Amino acid sequence: MRSALPLACVAVTVLTACGPSRAALEQDNPVRPNAPPPFGMEEFFKDVPQKPIPTRVRLGRWLFFDKRLSADNTLSCASCHQPEFAFSQTTAVSTGINGVKGTRKAPSLVNLAARTVLPDMPDDTAQTFFWDGRVSSLEHQVLVPIANRSEMGLDHQAMVDRLSALKGYRPYFTEAFGSGEITQERIAGALSDYVRTRMSGNSAYDRWSYKADAGAISEQAKRGSELFFFTQRCATCHAGFNFSDGRFHNLGVGWDPVTQQFKDDGRFAVTHDPRDHARFKTPGLRDVSKHPPYMHDGSLATLRDVVQFYNDARIPHRTIPNRSIRLLGPNPMSESDIDALVAFLKTLDGEGYQDQAPKHFPR
Ligand code: HEC
Ligand code: HEC
Repeated sequence: MRSALPLACVAVTVLTACGPSRAALEQDNPVRPNAPPPFGMEEFFKDVPQKPIPTRVRLGRWLFFDKRLSADNTLSCASCHQPEFAFSQTTAVSTGINGVKGTRKAPSLVNLAARTVLPDMPDDTAQTFFWDGRVSSLEHQVLVPIANRSEMGLDHQAMVDRLSALKGYRPYFTEAFGSGEITQERIAGALSDYVRTRMSGNSAYDRWSYKADAGAISEQAKRGSELFFFTQRCATCHAGFNFSDGRFHNLGVGWDPVTQQFKDDGRFAVTHDPRDHARFKTPGLRDVSKHPPYMHDGSLATLRDVVQFYNDARIPHRTIPNRSIRLLGPNPMSESDIDALVAFLKTLDGEGYQDQAPKHFPR
């Protein structure tokens, strides 16, 4: 009896009052050395603007999955950026706290550490985030959804106060930043560094293309790659290792033929340049098969629908203003071409970014 009681207390304490022990916490979320870029992406990640710091990545991983970063403790970043869907989600638009529906699809978060604009272009070190590119650093970007009333709805001071009131996070802020003070900037730094470690590569496409492994992708997908890079010129915009030029284009998505208007102004709202009307950032295509539906508004259900959309978009009678469809190849595709292009897109599923929520969180 005498020895059983303290033991029971210890067991209870571990799980409740003080939260998990430090050992349990850390075992579940250890400091990991930075992984090398996955095969095929070495060049892409060669000169990242900012290298993630492992102690910040560990802290950021907890924060990313922690629902206490939302006003009513119901949503974490991972509620909308779900690891199993390449850190995107499978609904057309996101739903924030109190069931408020947004207007845009949650993009995948893979491969965001490197610059988003291709080299040899003006501003080639620039990075832009969001579908309309309204934010130019990951550190700024990650704080937006927390305070956004239709996403996590927790204003930044309340977030800082809430985390500061917990004893459990402090040692990990000290470890990551040199002192236990919890600030917006530090929260943003840790979240960003976690996001930076979500790299995707070593796809079947990489093994075929860079390792000359002829059997890595099917004959159908090889034909799809011809269409993608040459005949259909998808790679005019989906260029480079991450299949994005980091630029903004108007494909006519979100055009309402009844009102003759776009439902979303896109890049125009940022620059007020009329040429930017309804332009959206070219999304990278790695792991694209993992997160239907597609486009900034999630209006296309499957990859086949997307390819069909491009095929139909060439029909000249569709007079949507300012469309950049002329960058596509001139010839329409047959049904079997469409299937081949879809087969190619599926070879871009990679590895290196996968994760799951830690089991324990600092309390
Ligand atoms: C309620 C759903 C939701 C939550 C919660 C959420 N996001 Fe997002 N996220 C989105 C949507 C939707 C967009 C695109 C919005 C836009 O372009 O206007 C986005 C965009 C992003 C982007 C830009 C990606 C790119 O390619 O430009 C990053 C990075 C990001 N979120 C990280 C986070 C982090 C970190 C958190 C947690 C602090 C978080 N998000 C929480 C829905 C969400
Ligand atoms: C003019 C530049 C351009 C060309 C050419 C182009 N794309 Fe796109 N692509 C974009 C932009 C911009 C978007 C996002 C549009 C939006 O949401 O409004 C996009 C979206 C996509 C998506 C959806 C990705 C997601 O995460 O929702 C896929 C898949 C895709 N394109 C494949 C292709 C294929 C296949 C081709 C060739 C047939 C092609 N693209 C040609 C610019 C282009």
